[in-house]
Amino acid sequence: MELLGVIGNPIAHSLSPLMHNAAFKALKRDCNYQSILVEEAKLKDVIYQAQARGFTGLNVTIPFKEKVLPYLTDLTPVAKQVESVNTILFHDQEIIGHSTDGLGFIAAAESELALDFNQKQVLVVGAGGSARSIVAQLLENQAQVYITNRTLKRAENLLSLATKQQLKPIVIPLDYRELAQQIDKIDVIINTTSVGMDCSGNATPVSPALFRPHHIVIDIIYNPQETLFLKEAKSRGCKTQNGIGMLVWQAAKAWEFWWGYLPPIDIMYQAVTASLKT
Ligand code: ATR
Repeated sequence: MELLGVIGNPIAHSLSPLMHNAAFKALKRDCNYQSILVEEAKLKDVIYQAQARGFTGLNVTIPFKEKVLPYLTDLTPVAKQVESVNTILFHDQEIIGHSTDGLGFIAAAESELALDFNQKQVLVVGAGGSARSIVAQLLENQAQVYITNRTLKRAENLLSLATKQQLKPIVIPLDYRELAQQIDKIDVIINTTSVGMDCSGNATPVSPALFRPHHIVIDIIYNPQETLFLKEAKSRGCKTQNGIGMLVWQAAKAWEFWWGYLPPIDIMYQAVTASLKT
């Protein structure tokens, strides 16, 4: 049996085992994917033990996406660029780190909304780890990126992601008047912050008065499935997408890295939506 798992802390609420095991079952693959709660002091040991036990790979979640970097022997170019790893492959004696978060975000928008980011004007709200992965891939897809964030300095830190050939991102202070000046030319608005998650369910990361009917509005939050941000966007005529797609597609892109092919995507979607309903 092939062994895989996700390491993080906390880990009990991760939907990864559910998604991956549902796909293995559908394909009758002899694989077991487990959630592994890791104390930070044991991070290195856990990775080396997984290698010694013959694990195929691991996923990595909060708070270890940057912390695993010292224990890896190699990084893919995208992981190197975003300095973050959510997928590990054990190959011979190598421990290779990859990041599928941004790739999963793009794949979800392409598949659910038929969205091509090339030359699109895209406003990214937030400048944390998720924003970093998403901005890197938006730039790769030749989008003109605008970044706004509560802490302006963090937004400015993302500017270095652009290479010489790419359109430089533009930083806008998280201020209604400043955003309103640019908003009509924006095609896509993406929330990458945690505002709207669980208990903060009645807040939005930017004022809903900024939404225009031509905007495509994406939230990477999947619980709740429809945040107030998306509800407000929908009520103003915008096309919307929630975070389930990114969750599923980042997992699918991990399969591509481990085995070179995609899992049954619909099975993964069903597993996630069924569990979120209960
Ligand atoms: P992740 O890896 O999930 O992106 P993170 O790196 O902690 O998590 O980033 C969280 C993002 O949500 C940041 O952009 C953060 O803004 P700051 O950089 O100013 O901290 C944003 N965020 C979290 N809570 C927020 C709030 N109440 N209002 C506005 N932005 C918030």
